This record gives sequence, structure tokens and C-alpha cells, in this order.
Amino acid sequence: TQEEECMGSVKAQLAKIFEASLKVTVPNEPDVEPLIAACTGKFGDYQCNNAMGLWSKIKGKGTQFRGPPAVGEAIKNNLPTSEMIESCSVAGPGFVNVVLSKNWMAKSIQKMLIEGIDTWAPMPPVKTAVVDFSSPNIAKEMHVGHLRSTIIGDTLARMLEFSKVKVLRRNHVGDWGTQFGMLIEFLFEKFPNFEDATETAIGDLQAFYKASKLRFDSDPAFKERAQQAVVRLQGGEEKYRRAWAQICEISRTEFHKVYQRLGVHLEEKGESFYNPYIPGVIEGLTKQGLVEESQGARVIFIEGVNIPLIVVKSDGGFNYASTDLTALWYRLNEEKAEWIIYVTDVGQQQHFDMVFKAAKRAGWLPQGDNSYPRASHVGFGLVLGEDGKRFRTRNTEVVRLVDLLDEAKSRSKAALIERGKGEQWTEEEIESTADAVGYGAVKYADLKNNRLTNYTFNFDQMLNDKGNTAVYLLYAHARICSIIRRSGKDIEQLMNKGTLVLEHKDERDLGLHLLQFAEVVEEACTNLLPNVLCDYLYNLSEIFSKFYSNPECKVIGSDKETSRLLLCEATAVVMRKCFNLLGITPIYKI
Ligand code: ARG
Repeated sequence: TQEEECMGSVKAQLAKIFEASLKVTVPNEPDVEPLIAACTGKFGDYQCNNAMGLWSKIKGKGTQFRGPPAVGEAIKNNLPTSEMIESCSVAGPGFVNVVLSKNWMAKSIQKMLIEGIDTWAPMPPVKTAVVDFSSPNIAKEMHVGHLRSTIIGDTLARMLEFSKVKVLRRNHVGDWGTQFGMLIEFLFEKFPNFEDATETAIGDLQAFYKASKLRFDSDPAFKERAQQAVVRLQGGEEKYRRAWAQICEISRTEFHKVYQRLGVHLEEKGESFYNPYIPGVIEGLTKQGLVEESQGARVIFIEGVNIPLIVVKSDGGFNYASTDLTALWYRLNEEKAEWIIYVTDVGQQQHFDMVFKAAKRAGWLPQGDNSYPRASHVGFGLVLGEDGKRFRTRNTEVVRLVDLLDEAKSRSKAALIERGKGEQWTEEEIESTADAVGYGAVKYADLKNNRLTNYTFNFDQMLNDKGNTAVYLLYAHARICSIIRRSGKDIEQLMNKGTLVLEHKDERDLGLHLLQFAEVVEEACTNLLPNVLCDYLYNLSEIFSKFYSNPECKVIGSDKETSRLLLCEATAVVMRKCFNLLGITPIYKI
């Protein structure tokens, strides 16, 4: 079973041991959850923080204890023996500090090497999740905001997939709405044989959108026809459906160029998909008494928000909110998702807040935010240019994402040529490395920030080979691989026959950090914060450098060579998993 293969994080394993102690220490308080945290101080590796809270619970109830430190002492004394723990001490107002056993640490790392990093995956309490991300709008610009959504959403999906959650990666494209009447009518006008209007014929779909909007605003007769076209499209008229499908297809081709460069996979279920379900869902909500009349529209009032959620517009049409409510209903009931995650800019926070609250009123979601099924909005800030304003390129007002990605790649390719790789490597190697570094740099520069903050897009910074960048980290990984290659040893054989030990302080520090991988992924996943994983990865490479550059920790040719090579390999394995979760392709040589 999964439980047997997967031990859970160090933190989770310690929590189990402390749970046993708490049961004995305070038998009358059966529901206390162990509070375990990694130590920041030098007294231990982890600490248990239950004593103070427990004390305030039990002090009025005639307890035998004389204060929080005594509670801490008892928690310590009641710990079952465990090979994980080397020693324990109580500090200050009752913190129980744990020093992990070096032996156990070394064994756990070696076990991971043999059985694979998947044994360190977190175990979230859900089987199926939806990640709704990227989601650009047909015929409109796919902008840097959509790029952020694509990058962040892909990472969250990867973390959940690593945790054995079935993830439905949903591209909720804006493919429905009144703008289609205008686009279709304009298509008919420009291309009497509209089926010939391929991507090459139309050229830039955004320009096409703009031109049709101009026509719409300036010619009342055209406007009239466009409005008719919406009705005919929504009524399912064949010719209009085909024109609509064609416009969608052209946009899709454009979006796919971006996804393909980024190596991101998505399954499209656009707004149009949910359209047939909307009337039924609204009817259900109406029967529940949630939908009210307000100024001709039908709305749901939400507690604490002064504007209501409009679910049917005054002209009888549906809107963004009608679609999102229905999509939520579909995901919960038809797709049986237990966690539904939406990745958009923070500007849409209120929209989702209202949709989720309406779903709670309807009883689709539980009241508490920490229970499942759960809906979460993952908001992110703006992408800024160096001028501190919204990111734009010099001559055009919009940034074409493909151009942006192409530039990242060509810059990293130029840097490789500059390093003389042009002579040493095959064309193929140059291309794939430039891909990995260029696209990796764009992703990492985005992911390393707390997603809620705005971030400044800067090629020079993100492609710097020093500092907290993908380039630096990818090179660090490649260097570790080359250490192992240079040793001439068969690493598979070493991990099965040799023994990893953590004698030196720098070895132990590195080992501890490696062991914390599982709880870091768990935290990044639970709080939907990829930057937590980036911080971990950067620290790992720093801690590795400290170990590797210490003459006392010489690897090749030392009497600890086997053990230290295994430690190098474990570092490389964990780094690769981090890259993988961040959607970055590792490189093996530089
Ligand atoms: N198409 C929207 C936009 O570009 C994003 C859609 C996000 N997903 C959703 N279910 N509303 O802003």
C-alpha cells in the first residue's frame, strides 16, 4: 500500500511519535494535534511546541504539572523509543527539541536513492483535483498574465500529480460571449468563402478582432447583423457554429505555440462547454431560494459583499459568473473533484470569492475553508517592465508571448556559444540546452517570487549565471553530475553495496536539508506557493556548495568517497525533482 511505501515527511513521522507521547502525557485531552516545526536555533533539528498551549488548557483542571516546562519534560519522557531520534531536550517555556539520529538520516537518504524520490511524495487528502489555469480568451491577446497563470498553474498541477492526485488540467478558454457575433459577421464580410480563412489568410487574429470592433462601433447596420449573429450562433445554426469553430481553431494554434515551448499540457474545456448546463444549475439555485430579482437581473446576494453576483443579465443572457458557477457545479458533481484551484491575476479575486460563497450558500461546498471539497483562488500580481509600469515591448503595445520565449532562448543560446560550446557540442545539444535554460529562466524568475507580488521582467537578471536564477541552479546540478561522472564509479552499484554516512557537520547539514524535501513540497502544495519550493532549491544548492568546497569534505579520492558520492547523487536527485516540479528541464553538462 501507499502507506508502506511512503513514510511521509520527517515532520509527519515525528508528529506520529509525539502524538503517542501526548496520548500518555495528557490522557484527558485526546484531540491535541502535535505541533512540530523545523528548528531555527541550534538546539535541535525539530521542535515540538505543544507544552504552552496544553498548559493553558489543563491548568484550571487540577493538573499534576507545575507549569509549561514540566509539561514539556513529560512530553519528552513519554516519547516512545525511536531510531529517528538521537536526543531530546526541553528549552525555555517547554519547547521539546529533537536532534535526529545521524544514522537514521543517512539510512533514509540511501533508502530514497534505492527506492526512488517518489517515496518522498506528500500525501494530500484528495484523490481528484481540477487546476484551472492559463485560460486565455479566443481572438484576444494572450498576455503576460496568461503566461504567469500557465507557469504557476503547471507547477501546482505537477506538485499534485507527484502527490498521486489525479489532476484535471483545465484550460477554461474564453470562447463564448457576444464578441463572437461581431467576429463571425466580420469573417463573413472579409471572406465570403469563410472556410478559406485560415491562420495565414487572417494573419493576426488580434488585429482582426480590433478591426471588427471598429466596424461594430462605427456601422449600425453591421452592429445589427452582429447581434443577430450571436442569436443564430447560440441557436446552433450550422454555418455560424462552423465560423465560430474556425475562429477558435486559429486562436488555439497560436496558444499551442506557447504551450509547446513551455512543455505545458492542458485540456481545453472552454466557457462554451458549460453553456448547456447553465439553465439547469440556475434553476436548481432558484428552487433553493438563492436567486433573487434585482434591477431586471437575477442575482445571488452574498453576505459581506455589497454587490450581488449576477447570474442572469437583464437581457436574459448569461455571463462570466453564470459560467463559473456552472463550471464549479460540473467539477464537483460530474468530475468529482475534491479540490478546485483557479489561477488568475489578483484582479479576479472578488469574482471567485463571490462564486465560492454562493457555492457555500448552495451547500455545494462546506462552510469551513479548510475542509474538502475545497475551492481555492490562486491570485498573482502584475508583470512589470523595467520602468515599473505594466510590461510592454518597445514598439508594440502588446507582448507576443512566443516572441518573448524566443528571445529568452536565443539569448541563452548566444551565452552558450560565447562559452565556447559551439565547438564542443552538437547542434542538437546546443538547442536542447538553450531550450532548457531559456524557458527555465522565464519560469523560475516568475515562480521564485511570492505570487501575490508584482514582478519585474528582466532578461539580464533572469539569465544571469549567478544568484538565485534557473541558470545558476541548472549549472549547479550539471556540476554535481560531472563530479559523479569524473569519479568513474557506477552509482547504482554504490547505492546498493556502499553505505552513506553523515559524519562531518557539512554532510549532516546537507543530509538534513535533503530530508526536508517532502515537507517543503507538502507546504508549497497545501498553501499553493511555488516560491517555497524555489527557496528550498536555492538553499539546497548553497548548502551543497558549502559541503563541496570544504577541503575536509573532499569527495573524489578520499576515504569517504563512496558515501560522499552518494550524497552528491542524492542532492542531484532532489534537485532534479525540484526542477521537474517547477516545469524546468535539467541539464547534465555545462
Ligand atoms: N479567460 C479569463 C481571463 O483571461 C480567465 C479564466 C479563468 N478561469 C475561470 N474559470 N474563470 O481573464
